[in-house]
Parts: sequence; C-alpha cells; structure tokens
Amino acid sequence: MDKVGFAVAGCGSIAVKHFAAISQVASAQLKAVYDTNLEKARQLAKQYGVAYAETFSELLKRDDIQVVDICAPSAFHAELAKAAARAGKHVLVEKPMALTLEDADEMIEACNKAGVKLSVILQNRYKPAVARLKKAVDDGDFGKLTHGTATVRWNRNWDYYQYSSWRGKTSMGGGVLINQAIHNIDLLQWLMGEVDSVFAFTAHRLLNINAEDVAVGVIQFKNGALGTVEAASTIYPRNLEESINIFGEKGTVIIGGIRADQVLVWEFAEKNYADFGGSKVETKGHIPVIEDMVRSVRENTRPAVDGEEGRRSLEIVLAFHESARTGKVIKI
Ligand SMILES: NC(=O)c1ccc[n+]([C@@H]2O[C@H](COP(=O)([O-])OP(=O)(O)OC[C@H]3O[C@@H](n4cnc5c(N)ncnc54)[C@H](O)[C@@H]3O)[C@@H](O)[C@H]2O)c1
Repeated sequence: MDKVGFAVAGCGSIAVKHFAAISQVASAQLKAVYDTNLEKARQLAKQYGVAYAETFSELLKRDDIQVVDICAPSAFHAELAKAAARAGKHVLVEKPMALTLEDADEMIEACNKAGVKLSVILQNRYKPAVARLKKAVDDGDFGKLTHGTATVRWNRNWDYYQYSSWRGKTSMGGGVLINQAIHNIDLLQWLMGEVDSVFAFTAHRLLNINAEDVAVGVIQFKNGALGTVEAASTIYPRNLEESINIFGEKGTVIIGGIRADQVLVWEFAEKNYADFGGSKVETKGHIPVIEDMVRSVRENTRPAVDGEEGRRSLEIVLAFHESARTGKVIKI
C-alpha cells in the first residue's frame, strides 16, 4: 500500500519533531515543506531530501500530499487549515487549533464540508500511563471524582521569546495558558469530564512580553467535581514540574516530574493495576499522533483528537482569559 504523503507548513522549532516522527512511521512519508521564510524551507527541504513549495497554494496543488501538517505560529492555523481543506487535503494541526472559537468552528466546518480529516495535536493524551488513567476514570475505578489539578511550573527565558516574537504576544497565541498549559488543561477536562464554569486570575510578572506568564484558574465540572490549574512560565531558574493529579473516593493518581514523566502515586482501593506502566511515563512524542492520522486517513476513522475534541481545551483557555479580564465566573 502506498505511504500517506505529508507536507509540513511552518518549519520552526516544533517542525523538526514532526519530521522525525513522520520518518519513524513506516506508512507515512514527508513529501514537501513550506514556510513563509523561503530560505528556511529551502534549507530544510535539502536537509531532509524533500521538495519545498514557494507558496502555500503551490504546496496544495501537489498530488503526492494527502495530509497538510500545520506547524506555523498559532495565529495562522485557521487560515492554513481552511485552505488545505478546500484543496481536499486532510489537516493535522498543532495546538492550539486556533485562537478563537469562531475560527475553530470554521475549521471544523471546512473539513466536514470537504470530507477530510481534522486532527489536533495534543500528544500527551497518547502517553501510555495517561491513556491507562483515562481508562481507569472511564471504568469508574475512582468512584466519585472529587477534584483534579494540573500544574505547569516551567521556565521560558528571554531567548525563547527572542527566537520567535509571536510567543510573547497574546494576539498571536502567546501566553502560558494557550501556549504551554493547554496540554494540561486538555488532560484535566478529558479525565474529569465536561466543564460547567471557570474562574481565573492571570498576571504578567517578568519578562518584557505582551502576554500572561502566570495564571491560576478554578473549574467546576458538570459532575460536581472541582479542578484547579496553576500555570507559570516564570519559574526560577529552570523547568521544575508538570503534573496532573486526579482524586476520587476510591483512587488517587499523580503523574508528575518535570514533564509529567513520573507516576508519583497510583493507588486504588479495589484494583492494584499491574498494567499501568510503572513509575516512568513512556512517551513517543509526536509518533502516535502521526500513526493516528495515517490510520484515520486509510481506514476512514475519526482521529483520536478531532476538531471537536481539540476545541474543548481552547474553549477553557479563552474562558479563563475572559474571566481574568472581567472578574466574572464564565459559563462554558
Ligand atoms: N505540541 C507541542 O508540544 C508543541 C510544542 C511547541 C510548539 N507547538 C506549536 O507549534 C506551532 C509552532 O511553534 P514553534 O515553536 O515551532 O514556532 P516557530 O516560531 O519556531 O516556527 C514557526 C515557523 O512558521 C513559519 N511561518 C510563519 N508564518 C507562516 C505561515 N503563514 N505559513 C507557513 N509558515 C509560517 C515561521 O517562519 C517559522 O519558521 C505553534 O502553534 C505552537 O503552539 C506545539
């Protein structure tokens, strides 16, 4: 069977991980790249032995591409995704899928109309320990859920913002909530259930950027459980912790470490789970995302994180922003 042809649009920091992941999935092949910085595209095309396109529309005309993998800055995701869908290409898009719910909805609609797949990259869902935790929640092993907490205590220094200025601008998708904590907010809502309402404070404390670098938010879930989010890109002097904590009447799980890479607590009253994966959280980064996209294209199945799923964490982040701006509790 022919390999599924991928094109990467946006050849910056994360794109390199996409190139590596695509090359490790036997049924996927990188065919071409595109970047508004033509020199970057040319250079990476040469390095990876693939074609490059001078314009996005030129890229979309290529017959050897089935999936357009969008790694451009977040503010451009919607426009690129809609154009790709109109050209009949399946769309894989980095988080956050868009900066507004209107854009997210238009992306979903464009992909539905064109009959193409839309998958949003939230790769932490695919970590085996996290997937096992989701199964434990779905199987009712926690009993009644009481609360859940997500923390991101990381360091993003001046070099990080200097490298790409969009990262320091709210209007371009910068800020610790939408750019870092969205992964953890996604896990929290995926594990705890549908969100009823949220409240947040955000602050800009350190570097000369135009976006929040510290945020605390609280969530009321529809099932009555509560959630908290603590997100900071200001931690001195380095990345300290990323964690997801789920608590219920018959179970406690804490996945922590610097990058949610350690199972710190895994205790249940009624099961001892030999199969949760041990204390080290395995991760294959973007590989399972590419595998899922290939499966979805070939077998015409729904991607694990489709547009509707990808929209959920965006909606919470935007509600946190609105709450911080207005001082009000925001209904989802
Ligand atoms: N899943 C993850 O863990 C993860 C990690 C990092 C970044 N990301 C996401 O990936 C995206 C890119 O982040 P990054 O850190 O690689 O950014 P970056 O600034 O390093 O790279 C972006 C690239 O896109 C190019 N570009 C700008 N406008 C473009 C356009 N309209 N069309 C095509 N290319 C364009 C730039 O020239 C640059 O080469 C963001 O949406 C970010 O949120 C996801």
